[in-house]
Amino acid sequence: MDSTLIPLASSLLILVFIFSYLLARLIKSLRTIKNSRLIWRNTYPSIEELHALFDRGDIMLAAVFIASTLQVSHPEIAKTIRAHSTFKTDPWRRIIRTMTFMFIMIRSNSLERKQVIEWLQRLHRGIPLFKFETNVLVFATFAYGLAKSHEYLGSATPLEIEGIVRGVMSMADKLDPKDLGRKVPNTMAEVEEYLRSELKFDTKVLKDINDENSQLSSVWDEMRRQGFTKFLIRPRTSVQLVLLTKFVRRLSNNVLEDKACHGIFESLFWWCIRKLQCFLSFFHYSMCPQVLTFDGTLNLLISGNPRMADVPIELYREIFGNKGAPPISLPGGSLRQFSDMEAHLPRMEIDQRPMPTVLKFRQELKELVQCSYYRGKLSGSPGHPPRHLGVIMDGNRRYSRGRGLNSVLAGHQVGAHKLLQVMSWAFSSGVQNLTVWALSDDNLKRGPQELNPLFSMMADYIHEMMMGDAPFSIPDVRFRVVGDRAILPDYLNDMITKAETATAGNKRFNLQIAIGYGGRSEVTRATKLAVSKMVQEGLSLEEAVEKVGEADISRQTYSAQLGLPQIDAILRTSGENRLSGFALWESHHAEFAIVEENWPALRQSTFLRSLLDLSKRNRRFGA
Ligand SMILES: *[C@@H]1O[C@H](CO)[C@@H](O)[C@H](O)[C@H]1NC(C)=O
Repeated sequence: MDSTLIPLASSLLILVFIFSYLLARLIKSLRTIKNSRLIWRNTYPSIEELHALFDRGDIMLAAVFIASTLQVSHPEIAKTIRAHSTFKTDPWRRIIRTMTFMFIMIRSNSLERKQVIEWLQRLHRGIPLFKFETNVLVFATFAYGLAKSHEYLGSATPLEIEGIVRGVMSMADKLDPKDLGRKVPNTMAEVEEYLRSELKFDTKVLKDINDENSQLSSVWDEMRRQGFTKFLIRPRTSVQLVLLTKFVRRLSNNVLEDKACHGIFESLFWWCIRKLQCFLSFFHYSMCPQVLTFDGTLNLLISGNPRMADVPIELYREIFGNKGAPPISLPGGSLRQFSDMEAHLPRMEIDQRPMPTVLKFRQELKELVQCSYYRGKLSGSPGHPPRHLGVIMDGNRRYSRGRGLNSVLAGHQVGAHKLLQVMSWAFSSGVQNLTVWALSDDNLKRGPQELNPLFSMMADYIHEMMMGDAPFSIPDVRFRVVGDRAILPDYLNDMITKAETATAGNKRFNLQIAIGYGGRSEVTRATKLAVSKMVQEGLSLEEAVEKVGEADISRQTYSAQLGLPQIDAILRTSGENRLSGFALWESHHAEFAIVEENWPALRQSTFLRSLLDLSKRNRRFGA
């Protein structure tokens, strides 16, 4: 062997050695990252995450296109659309009206939605829109469109797909209170089967749609005339639009023709298109995050053409009449993101004082990491989540004062929204039974000027929950109220009864709100009930008083009466160090955690940390 080769070979060997060593290290550290317990996703999306699902314009547009393509394949609906569509005469205006309509629908509460529907019915006189059957069809097309777009254009997992379908379909029985609880297709498989049975694939109809789609080009022409070239004319966007159209057609045909299987080349082709689309979207979102959101697109379409400036307000007035300022700010002015509207509760304003961006980013990042960490810990923890968690929601008033909100009610509203979040956090951590203390019997001594608005907010809130707005992220919530109902106003009691009846069949999550509740009065009540039950069973009063025992009283607590396990963990917010009588009887064995944050400001990481703490300590006495 040539002697000059020896040093070369040995250094090569050393290099190879070092390289393999580094590679092994890298692989090992990657493995540890993979195995370490960081869980980045909730199984059940929070409300913000669900809204984020609507925040990618291309996905939303694809969903709308797919849904409308499917809808016009339904003979009745096709007739309606053809009779009333002004798409051919003024497409730009028509697009903005449709998008504004969706904007209002998504953001309004159930009372406002009712008005929107009445308006639509006025508009489409004589056509049975918004019958239950039509609702199911419309929602099914949208569920399919949204789920498929997320699968193809985003990276939704099968579980998320099912979540989207369930979320959308859970709205189908809630447009009209009399339809509540009627059966709707609820999984992707059921939706597909349902659509196949309802729709008729008709090449003539599809040709019509394509004709209408080509009307879009007149919008582009008008844009160019308006000198509005900065956005949609860009080649990248055009490529996206072409892909989107193709993609929509393919997915719609998929349902209509029942062609599940494709050849390998076709599959490969679509795989590439999907990747390209994802890549382009990614590019778009990293460059100009606002523009391609649903709101951003709408805003651009409006601001791009002076003729369109008044269209949203006009539509708003058409629907709601001429009464004051819109409760939701309509597009056209500043760019708004969906996250601004975190919940749909009536008259609700979320505290939005701006925070310095860098600080906010750092806090968000920290929160994300902490939540992931605690989630991982929780899933691997040897303890078990509480079988029944009780929460003392304290600090709404302090929060209002500390934040300088204009009324105490504002703090309660933010607090009400917080409950929705906490429900989804609790549910995704394995808690299924949650009792929250909203108002004590002592609080009822506060003056009517504080109580009346609070009662009316509660009634609105319960109505929203029942109509499906609030627990959008966890359908299947059974709702009940514990406490002294006799002291509540009639309209609130009626609303509670309605909601309890409507959700009586739900099984996956039990939410109890304690209103007019006090621990001592619960124990007094339970004792009385225990004694009177024994008297009814034939004992004399003296014998009953003599014989009544702890077990008899336990059987008459609210939890026992509702068929729930005893409250075995209690969380109190706002740093207060006492139980104040909450779950007085049951708290005997319950674990207790206190957090400093006021209820409306409770962070997910804090909640998860307390839950972890509670589950570790949980010894399940007397279960
Ligand atoms: C919640 O309560 C129900 C009884 O209504 C019980 O079957 C279920 O196991 C409880 N959930 C948990 C997580 O303990």
